[in-house]
Amino acid sequence: MSKVTSSTLIKFKQEGRKFTALTAYDASFAGAFDQEGIDVLLVGDSLGMVLQGHSDTLPVTVEDIAYHTRCVHRGIERALLIADMPFMSYATAEQTMINATKLMQAGANMVKLEGGEWLLESVKMLTQRGIPVCAHLGLTPQSVHVFGGFKVQGRDADNAQRIINDAKALEAAGAQLLVVECIPAALARTISETLTIPVIGIGAGKDTDGQILVMHDVLGISSGYIPRFSKNYLKQTGEIRGAVKAYIEEVVEGRFPAEEHTFN
Ligand code: KIV
Ligand code: NA
Repeated sequence: MSKVTSSTLIKFKQEGRKFTALTAYDASFAGAFDQEGIDVLLVGDSLGMVLQGHSDTLPVTVEDIAYHTRCVHRGIERALLIADMPFMSYATAEQTMINATKLMQAGANMVKLEGGEWLLESVKMLTQRGIPVCAHLGLTPQSVHVFGGFKVQGRDADNAQRIINDAKALEAAGAQLLVVECIPAALARTISETLTIPVIGIGAGKDTDGQILVMHDVLGISSGYIPRFSKNYLKQTGEIRGAVKAYIEEVVEGRFPAEEHTFN
């Protein structure tokens, strides 16, 4: 059971083997997900919503993410561990360096930042100094107030082209992974085919290289509603480890996401 790295994910992409990711925030759940074979775990700033009960991710701090990253790090052996850089923690170059360092020292293998063209310098700077970067495009929840709500992105041609250009530029700047959230399936497919680095989708159809979901959605315990692109696997299995196993199986076999989870 060797450790998953960015090279492992590139190999999966080249072989056409779909890989799986879940969010995790503590050692016990993360350990179970890891043992069931999840390839990537993300300490997402979604914890502001699912753990802290806020209505968006903006109140989350670097200290919050660092704490949960330390917890998850202790629980796992195999999965690649990504930590989200929270809202405004990478607004300037100096903040970016200081805060990414904190997350790496907490046990992250990679940090994730939301944004396109304006992030290129940060991606270059982090990568050159030894911190791998996962970029995040499409519906980037830290910009929910700019978007005017949690809305599907990339629906019109201009917006779609901008996302494609951003994706290419982020890869050229050194990003080793890309998350695309809530964009039409055809756009996600184009991005995945265009880039050499692996692309992980959430609400982005079945043709990305990997899939990610929020663990609370998979286990059907999110407060409020479950997003349309997600799936409650606990319902069909009645068991947490079984739910994770079913999620992995359906992704690898190309059965999740189905049409009902997809934006066109
Ligand atoms: O914070 C989070 O959970 C995320 C995933 C939904 C990609 O960023
Ligand atoms: Na996030």
